[in-house]
Parts: sequence; structure tokens; C-alpha cells
Amino acid sequence: MTKTRAVPVGIGHYLPARVVENTEFEATLDTSDDWIRSRSGIERRHFAAEGETTSQMAVAAARAALDMAGLAPGDIDVVIVATSTPDLTFPSVATMVQAGLGMEGGFAFDVQAVCAGFVYALANADALIVSGQARRALVIGAETFSRIMDWTDRGTCVLFGDGAGALILEAQEGDGTVADRGILATDLHSDGRFKDLLYVDGGVSSTGTTGVLRMEGREVFRHAVEKLAETAETALARAGAQPEQVDWVVPHQANLRIITRTAQKMGIDMDRVVVTVQDHGNTSAASIPLALSVGVARGQIKQGDLLVCEAIGGGLAWGAVVIRW
Ligand code: UT7
Repeated sequence: MTKTRAVPVGIGHYLPARVVENTEFEATLDTSDDWIRSRSGIERRHFAAEGETTSQMAVAAARAALDMAGLAPGDIDVVIVATSTPDLTFPSVATMVQAGLGMEGGFAFDVQAVCAGFVYALANADALIVSGQARRALVIGAETFSRIMDWTDRGTCVLFGDGAGALILEAQEGDGTVADRGILATDLHSDGRFKDLLYVDGGVSSTGTTGVLRMEGREVFRHAVEKLAETAETALARAGAQPEQVDWVVPHQANLRIITRTAQKMGIDMDRVVVTVQDHGNTSAASIPLALSVGVARGQIKQGDLLVCEAIGGGLAWGAVVIRW
């Protein structure tokens, strides 16, 4: 039986020009390149320039994705931006992207699920496409986490970076089998009881300030290792696929040790995992679309490959998406 699928037709990314190596932190913090590398796998990250905003980076990534797809902004029905670091409290970054691309129609909104944001945004885009409410979706993860760092907290400020990635999904008819291209299954979870493990200590209705990121790194690590393989395997089962059929795991890039342990638990070798954490750090909702875009540019991800993307972050919120590229 035929089934409408949300099929990837274009991917692109943007990274700010400024690259910050681990050694830069040694001047101001009691830390070392060796500690950061060995505990997280991070070697460098990009930081947005002064005045450079999340929406500007999102527009640049979107343009790259449109170019690859050979589409014009007017061909897009819905723009969804996953971000926790919007330009303004409102309107949404997504509507700013709409304006930045010169779109005169369609609709746009943001999704806020922190590091799991892109997975949540893909699930939303898939639902809109499968239900016939949109034919083409532009799904973006874009973040300026450098703006919410406590630069005196060595346990967090060395881990995060800025950037944006964009994926265009298009309605195409499949056979309803695991051989179809497109999003084949999603699995989403959250548990608000874990708020205190990872949050920003400011906001509109509480402090009236932006706040800075606070994290119990060791506890988040423990939850990540426990939950990521499970959600990835659930999504794969829903798609009717086994872990051994997966060509590429494209994980949230927070920590190389989390990425490695998750792959191990799933019985997948690291040579089938797209890893970019060494160059980008943790870019929250931008990390998966950045890894998808870099994975395609490197020639790792090819049309027809079976991908599973998994992520966890503040909330806690976590989930996975299975995509045949
Ligand atoms: O994207 C959202 C999801 N976020 C994550 O997935 C992050 C999850 N957590 C992690 O990635 C890791 O827990 C961290 C990289 C944050 C930390 O690694 P860890 O192996 O869990 O280290 P730890 O927090 O247990 O700290 C070990 C030691 C501590 O010293 P003591 O108490 O053992 O004396 C820290 O104070 O390392 C110290 N430390 C540092 N030392 C040098 C913490 N940060 C640093 C630093 N440089 N930057």
C-alpha cells in the first residue's frame, strides 16, 4: 500500500568564522586541552561574531539546503526552527528565516526541546507532511549557545559551540516498507522531573533576564548512556529495521564517550557513526543537522542509506528518528 513519506531533498549548514581551540580556555580557566579532549572528544568549536544572530545563521544554512535541492524559498510550505537561543523572546526565529529568505507564503514556528530539538522538529515536519498539511518542510537547527555560557564555569563553557544546519523534506509516495526513502519512524520522550540537571537560570516570567546554562554533567551523562540506545532501538523497531541494517548513526554531538557507548550498546561499530563533535563541540539543536550536512559533504551518507539520529538534552527531552536518505 502506498504511503506518503517525508523525503530529504537538500541539506546545508553554516558555521561562524571564529574557531576557538581548546587551548584558548587555558588562559582564563583551570582547564587543559588534554582534559577537554579526553573527557568530551571536543578539540575546537565555532563562536558567532558579535551581532551575529541565530536567525542569520539559520538563513545561511537554509540557503545552502535550498541550493542543493534546486528549490526556491517560495517552494517551501513550512519552516520549523529548533532552537533554545532565539534572537528575541518573540517572534519565532522561524518567521525571521521566512522573512530572511524572502518568503511571502507558508507558515513558520519554533520548536524548543533543547538538544533534542531537531529530532522533535523532524517529527513535527513528518506529521505535517504525512497528514497533507505541507508538501515541503524546511527544518533547521540553529543555536548561539556561546551567549548563554557562564565563562567562569569550566564544567560547561568549554563544551558548547554555535552553528546551524538545515534539511528540506518533501512529500513523496513510498510503498510503506522499510525500503522507502524518507522518515520511516520517530520516537519521542521527555521527563520534566529532571529539570534541575540541565537548565538556563533565567527567563521572561521568572527573572526577566536571559540567564546562563547550568548542568550536572555527570548525571546528564548517565541518563544519556541509559536512554539513547533505547530510543534509537525503539525507533528502528517501529520502522521495521534491525540495528545491523543501519548504515549511519547520526547522533547528537555532546560527548564522544556518550556517542561511543551508545553505538556499543546498539552493536554498531564506530566506523558507521558520523562524528563531528571534535570540530563543533555541542551545538545543541544544531548538532544533528550539522552532522548530517558534514556527513553528506564527506561522502559518508549516500542516497538510500539507512540512518538513525538520536539526541538527549534539557528537560530532560530525548528521542530518535529513522530516515532512509
Ligand atoms: O547536550 C546536552 C546533553 N549534555 C551532555 O550530554 C553532557 C553530558 N556530560 C558530559 O559530557 C560529561 O559529564 C562532562 C564532559 C560534562 C564532564 O565529564 P565527566 O567525566 O563526567 O567529569 P566530571 O563532571 O565527573 O568531573 C571530573 C573532574 C571534576 O573534578 P573532581 O571533582 O574529580 O576533583 C571536575 O571538577 O573534572 C573536573 N572538571 C574539569 N577539569 C578540567 C570539570 N570540568 C573541567 C575542565 N577542565 N573544563
